[in-house]
Amino acid sequence: MAADPTNARPPLLSVANLRVSIASDEGLAQVLDGVSLDVAEGRIVGVVGESGCGKSTLVRAVLGILPRGARTESGSIHFAGEDLLTLDERAMTRRIRGRAIGFIPQDPYLALNPVFRVGTQLLEIMRWHGDGSEDGAGPFNRARRARHRLWLIQILKAVQLPDPEQALDRYPHQFSGGQRQRLLIAGALACRPRLVIADEPTTALDVTTQLEILKLLKRLVAEFGVSMLFVTHDVGVVAQLCDEVAVMYAGQSVEWGGTGELLARPRHPYTVSLLACHPDRADGLVGIAGQVPSALAPPTGCRFHPRCGKAMAACAGTKPETTPSGDRHTVACMLYGVPDA
Ligand SMILES: Nc1ncnc2c1ncn2[C@@H]1O[C@H](COP(=O)(O)OP(=O)(O)OP(=O)(O)O)[C@@H](O)[C@H]1O
Ligand SMILES: [Mg+2]
Repeated sequence: MAADPTNARPPLLSVANLRVSIASDEGLAQVLDGVSLDVAEGRIVGVVGESGCGKSTLVRAVLGILPRGARTESGSIHFAGEDLLTLDERAMTRRIRGRAIGFIPQDPYLALNPVFRVGTQLLEIMRWHGDGSEDGAGPFNRARRARHRLWLIQILKAVQLPDPEQALDRYPHQFSGGQRQRLLIAGALACRPRLVIADEPTTALDVTTQLEILKLLKRLVAEFGVSMLFVTHDVGVVAQLCDEVAVMYAGQSVEWGGTGELLARPRHPYTVSLLACHPDRADGLVGIAGQVPSALAPPTGCRFHPRCGKAMAACAGTKPETTPSGDRHTVACMLYGVPDA
């Protein structure tokens, strides 16, 4: 859906029409209902939407760690030329997760094990996946561990952690939240991935630290030559960091575009509402009336229609097709094109 026509190379990551359901005691949740997005080489793509829109489920689908009861109903996830949905668990573990795709989790306080030194934890990742200059196979000996340690110290310098050599011998509680997030960013980069996925990596941090981490991520993407998929519910963060943005609502892709264009000329009524409630744009406390629907009983057609001020009769009946609307900008809304019969 979102391929950049100015870029002849295929995107590094391309998610197309992904549909995922999760069965639980409560019933069958239709969590993703046709999600598509592309991440081109060297780009930072933001995924934005309210809580419960399926952002983390999308990330888990790409990483191959969907929860128990989940089923990928249809769609594809192409990464570096292969469909990840066709790979077995062994291939995902050895070649993709933590190796070709690094992951930065949301909560730096929970993601590190309190009883092990940070060096032990970070070097363990490299023990399995190597440092990107080797294939990670073969005997693990002192020389290899020493090489990993040197590379890790270089990365800790790049993420601007004070005293990198001593840092490896400390425990997580000896670091601040922002420093722990720098450690996790270092962990995501340690095996020289091609893509880094970050799921709300700054939400647990104070605003000043958040800004520092965003600046750091932007610099590291250029310095390490990686691409990034950045999940957030904050359009302000998207504006500061991302080249392109994908807007999700209740498991559906609703809009895609270059960040500047999309923020200046949002098309989908959901994107318009989302932008209108951001503190930078809103006059006072503004919200979107209603709530994201439960994935157990989502509305038919466009899932936003019950909350949409511009909804028409057709919106409840048919899911809108994604159509081009402006320069490198697509939208899935009846206002911008009725699907073919
Ligand atoms: N294991 C599960 N079983 C059943 N439903 C689930 C499961 N995990 C997620 N869901 C449902 O899928 C929907 C999307 O959840 P998800 O965590 O992907 O949203 P999100 O956009 O990441 O939200 P947040 O911004 O709060 O992190 C929610 O309705 C949630 O209840
Ligand atoms: Mg989430």
